[in-house]
Amino acid sequence: MSKVTVVIITLMLAIVGSFCKAENLSENTESLAKTVCGACHGSDGNSALSMNPIIAQQHSDYIYKQLMNFQSGKRQNAIMMGIASGLSEKNISELSIYFSAFKAKTVGVQNISLAEVGEKIYRVGIRDRKIPACGSCHLPNGAGIPGQFPRLAGQYSQYTANQLNYFKSGARKNDKGAVMRTIASRMTEKEIGAVAEYISGLN
Ligand code: HEC
Ligand code: HEC
Repeated sequence: MSKVTVVIITLMLAIVGSFCKAENLSENTESLAKTVCGACHGSDGNSALSMNPIIAQQHSDYIYKQLMNFQSGKRQNAIMMGIASGLSEKNISELSIYFSAFKAKTVGVQNISLAEVGEKIYRVGIRDRKIPACGSCHLPNGAGIPGQFPRLAGQYSQYTANQLNYFKSGARKNDKGAVMRTIASRMTEKEIGAVAEYISGLN
């Protein structure tokens, strides 16, 4: 065999090998997603219970950041810190892409008059108290912008309100530049409840 042939065969084997590896890892990730994450978030990321957030269709970079933050303790939650501690960086990266690819359901508004109060905050903010329109970053339809602002649309109002209250109290502090802590600290609990109700109906 010529030297060139040996080099070509070696390269081909390396490429085939890397595909096999990727496939094994994906299987591992898929079973993690279905058996572990799926038990709470639903196997397609559409959690059936309001106590667990919907993670389907969330931007993969945002899921990745949150899992890394749970792992390092930068974002605190007993359940998710425990789970994230057992994941490799590769698992986290693959799980983020996996769940972002499913279409999210919309929970839907339960209390229309409350959602109407929330709609005004979401769309225009409360100017004299320096509360900006949520839609200016998270977009009017709540889809967010990959790499910048998370998707909020259709989420359980209980989860959204919890996160806003955690930002307000400083219990959650993994937002760069304290952007969400600053905004939430200016909001009353009633306003938080109203905007969370409105967001649950977006899709
Ligand atoms: C025992 C239930 C449970 C399991 C299992 C679980 N989660 Fe969670 N997850 C939660 C809860 C509850 C929260 C909300 C935490 C909070 O309030 O901060 C959460 C939050 C998250 C978030 C943050 C969502 C956001 O919008 O910021 C991500 C991402 C996430 N989980 C991904 C996963 C992945 C991936 C797995 C599997 C490896 C998993 N979870 C397993 C219960 C669970
Ligand atoms: C200046 C831009 C900006 C504005 C305005 C803004 N947000 Fe955010 N928001 C962010 C960023 C950035 C994050 C991601 C924080 C992180 O990295 O964990 C975020 C995160 C969130 C989260 C957590 C989502 C999750 O799944 O964990 C909620 C809920 C939220 N924002 C609601 C709101 C609401 C309600 C308003 C309006 C009152 C609002 N935001 C206005 C930038 C903004």
